[in-house]
Amino acid sequence: MPVISHPASTAISLPPFRFPPSLSTGDIKLRIVVLDTPDLVTQFAADMVCELVKERAREKIEVVLGLATGGTPLGLYRELIARHQRGGVSFREVDTFNLDEYVGLPPDSPQSYHYYMLENLFKHIDIDLERTHVPETWNVDLDESAHDFEMNIELAGGIDLQILGIGTDAHIGFNEIGSSLGSRTRVKTLTRKTRADNARYFASPDEVPRMALTMGIATILESQSILLLATGESKATAIRNCVEGPITSSVPASALQLHPNVTLALDSAAASGLANLDYFLESERNRAATTRSS
Ligand code: PGA
Repeated sequence: MPVISHPASTAISLPPFRFPPSLSTGDIKLRIVVLDTPDLVTQFAADMVCELVKERAREKIEVVLGLATGGTPLGLYRELIARHQRGGVSFREVDTFNLDEYVGLPPDSPQSYHYYMLENLFKHIDIDLERTHVPETWNVDLDESAHDFEMNIELAGGIDLQILGIGTDAHIGFNEIGSSLGSRTRVKTLTRKTRADNARYFASPDEVPRMALTMGIATILESQSILLLATGESKATAIRNCVEGPITSSVPASALQLHPNVTLALDSAAASGLANLDYFLESERNRAATTRSS
């Protein structure tokens, strides 16, 4: 990656938010895919990632993936490793940008997202580690780090496919409730709910960091396409509010309604709160029928 120089002034200006070009090409959709089990959600997500990576490899064009951490994408990463080890897919020409990292944990801490990505994906596939980006939060100026992260996404040509999980309070990345829908990469204070949800990864709840550096909502919305994964009943309310509620900073994931190319892959438990579930199921059946007949 080219070295980025910092302006002499402390005010760091970032580019204004713009939708990805697909908005102007008519390729607009919010697709809800409901699958019976978490494993089917994993297979669906792995198919989507691998199809994109292989298509770009055929065209000899690099691909930029946005990656998430947490419990939900672990199955996806296991499946990507398995497909890579079977010779089915190479990640040599892939750049990655992770959504977030805790503030206050060194990268070699087992709870850090640097460590998570290395252990759960990167060290098992043929990706060039120089092309992987997890927000830097250890021994750095956090504002400069946020600025560099945004600039590196720009230099890589933008994110082609952003993988998202969703918090039980409908946060995406660590954009907690109240996050501006126009926000960019920055430090956020974690809510008590998020810290309680993530306490299972730490020896005690007090050890969960209080802050994180996270991609902003505008940064996420600039991805060409977005795949949100949710499994389990604990996500049902967040999914209902994300899809069927008003667009509001009180439900950060509701900003996805503004994006032209979003797919939500849900297991039936995560989809169980949707008031219009029957409609979404029918819509997906019609989509499959149209695809078959074309
Ligand atoms: P989880 O976290 O996948 O561990 O449920 C999702 C999130 O907080 O975004």
